[in-house]
Amino acid sequence: MADRVLDRARLAGLMARERERFAAEHPRSAALFDQGRASLLDGVPMPWMVKWASPFPPFVESASGAHFRCVDGHDYVDFCLGDTGAMAGHGPAPTIAAVERQLRKGITHMLPTEDAAWVGEELTRRFGVGSWQFALSASDANRWSLRLARHMTGRPKVVVHDHCYHGSVDEAIAMLDDAGRVVPVRGSVGPQVDVAQTTRVVDFNDVAGLESALADGEVAAVLIEPALTNVGIVLPEPGYLDAVREITRRTGTILIIDETHTICAGPGGATGAWGLEPDMVVIGKTIGGGIPSAAYGFSPELAARVSGSIDVEDSDVGGVGGTLAGYALSLAATRATLGEVLTTAAFERMIPLAERWEAGVSAVLRELGVPWHVTRLGARAEYHFMPTPPRTGAEQWANADPDLERFLHLWAMNRRVLMTPFHNMALMSPATAAPDVDRHTEVFREAIEALFSDG
Ligand SMILES: Cc1ncc(COP(=O)(O)O)c(C=O)c1O
Repeated sequence: MADRVLDRARLAGLMARERERFAAEHPRSAALFDQGRASLLDGVPMPWMVKWASPFPPFVESASGAHFRCVDGHDYVDFCLGDTGAMAGHGPAPTIAAVERQLRKGITHMLPTEDAAWVGEELTRRFGVGSWQFALSASDANRWSLRLARHMTGRPKVVVHDHCYHGSVDEAIAMLDDAGRVVPVRGSVGPQVDVAQTTRVVDFNDVAGLESALADGEVAAVLIEPALTNVGIVLPEPGYLDAVREITRRTGTILIIDETHTICAGPGGATGAWGLEPDMVVIGKTIGGGIPSAAYGFSPELAARVSGSIDVEDSDVGGVGGTLAGYALSLAATRATLGEVLTTAAFERMIPLAERWEAGVSAVLRELGVPWHVTRLGARAEYHFMPTPPRTGAEQWANADPDLERFLHLWAMNRRVLMTPFHNMALMSPATAAPDVDRHTEVFREAIEALFSDG
């Protein structure tokens, strides 16, 4: 749809101008990037950091609340928030205080501290499922959940949604090709074991597809986000998640809900907000306030099945767990973040801010006659280059426009607003304020005018 009105030559010209502006205004970041190229692959410490729309990333000097200052002295409003890792805001005071206390009391010792049970109880209160284990990343929590699901059911396969992302989890780096076959996702690095052997992939919102994927009783677990967030937000249609629950229950398949991003729906994620009844829940990124922390929890019925089922002599080498998982510092940070930062009261402030973001962007689009859609999930919102909300991941993917996306992100960066570098997503933290949101709306309006106005 955007193509019909978008002048590609104008887009390319504007993009070149914005790249020059970024480079001119960030000489210190440029120098650090050059220095990094000597010792870091592609000049960055992690592959995703090449994805910024700028010619090189802005290097951070300090971050606080919903803002950060780059080494060139510019203050940015941060809607990326470390791709959810800093959803609690940068450096929340209670988390810092808890981490400082714990640093002096012992960082890691592979023994439990009293924070573990507190965090377990709090996660149960939020997500319903009752027995928890910890990890350092959501990827690990998902990997271990899938292993345990196969262990408990004795079944070999897993089901995921087309265009899902659950971290660097081999079974989940799978998608459907045009012929409906399961293949590694585009760009899958060193493709793992054949995903067609491990995984069945179904479209989001496709009840019949799920029904047939589970029919032969070969699937251990369905691993899903209750709304897709990693291809752009795709919301469930009415009844879809009920159908997922009914089919998984009827076929004896474990339903794992990955709330790592959908925690934006409320303090208990979509599980809490929509009254879902998963068998297992995975949550990562946010809960440590920036300190590595993730958790996976079991329903009482599954906990009874898994508890004691692994021989004590094998418990350390079987492929579940990790040396620092559930370590003292992580759990101290998680207790403070859940108890004092990402609270119900914080969500009550964050969600209206996302509504304000949604309303602001929608009004610009409407007034300037641009047929794009805005979707919101709790404290997270996103615009799509299409007039109606996507129903499946493939539909959202088909309407992606990487050149347009990069331009909009860079335009915003040059006006000190940072969006997540993947699709067009903005996330609110407890520290985000209305003027931050309004700044985005203003900058977005200017970008749309620059792209589409006749002047
Ligand atoms: C839904 C979901 N699950 C899991 C992960 C993996 O998280 P991590 O990179 O912290 O392992 C992500 C990362 O974006 C995610 O969005």
